[in-house]
Amino acid sequence: MKNFQIQYSNKVLTVTISRPKALNALNMELLEELHDIIQELYQNNDTRGLILTGDGDKAFVAGADIKELALLDQDKALELAKNGQALFKKIEDCPKPIIAAINGFALGGGCELAMACHIRIATDNAKLGQPEINLGIIPGYAGTQRLARIIGKGRALELMLTGDQIPAQEALRLGLVNRVVPAADLMTEAKKLAVALAAKAPIAIRYILEAVNKGLEMPFAQAQIFEATLFGLVASTDDMREGTAAFLEKRKPAFKGR
Ligand code: CAA
Repeated sequence: MKNFQIQYSNKVLTVTISRPKALNALNMELLEELHDIIQELYQNNDTRGLILTGDGDKAFVAGADIKELALLDQDKALELAKNGQALFKKIEDCPKPIIAAINGFALGGGCELAMACHIRIATDNAKLGQPEINLGIIPGYAGTQRLARIIGKGRALELMLTGDQIPAQEALRLGLVNRVVPAADLMTEAKKLAVALAAKAPIAIRYILEAVNKGLEMPFAQAQIFEATLFGLVASTDDMREGTAAFLEKRKPAFKGR
């Protein structure tokens, strides 16, 4: 991989986006490599979760690569947006938890990438925003949709129309990030969380992600039926027997993903 550093420990992949000279901006080559990493996460039974972070202490991702954007015509821009959206949807739909460890700027496509992840932890010096308006464009990797769904329409519109960068504490207040931690603690916190999630029942994890992601796009009544169906399915797993038995026997469960 040209644009990533990858480490594996305790069933968790730590994936560092590495184009530090361009503040880890997302170019097309990088997005193709990220697609392969996510595909591998879907398929590899030994991996239970992933942490995504940025190289250096300045940026998670400063957006789509503006050098590439500057050359786009209408057809190529449409294609770029569709490809990026498909990749970010694949991240959101991943059956294993993906944590964004936001170590600095998460702007434009960087904020969109973080929003596609399941949990966001930011350093106290991170800045988030959708500054596309300042380039005369709009978010193209589903930022208009995810931001409004995560923080509400009014706040999302304000952020996108002004293009303002907001500090991590403000992002926390808006619900755009889950936690804010000192920079020195970021990876320790992210790894602690990822390892804790890796020890939980994998099928239940998958169904929670699926119930929330798919259910939120359904009418409530239909989403409830969907949830009940998954609840039925999870009750057929060995892990359900193990989890309930462990509670009643006052011991820690050992989940097997079956
Ligand atoms: N694309 C390409 N290169 C970028 C970049 C980006 N998104 N962001 C930063 N860089 C490059 C700069 O061009 C600069 O390169 P050189 O040293 O070769 O000049 C290098 O990274 C360092 O950047 P700065 O000198 O600008 O650093 P700074 O500390 O002064 O500012 C910043 C940091 C505020 C993040 C600023 O770099 C910035 O505003 N970046 C652009 C942010 C942006 O507009 N993102 C949205 C992109 S559009 C998008 O993402 C569309 C979409 O939804 C699909």
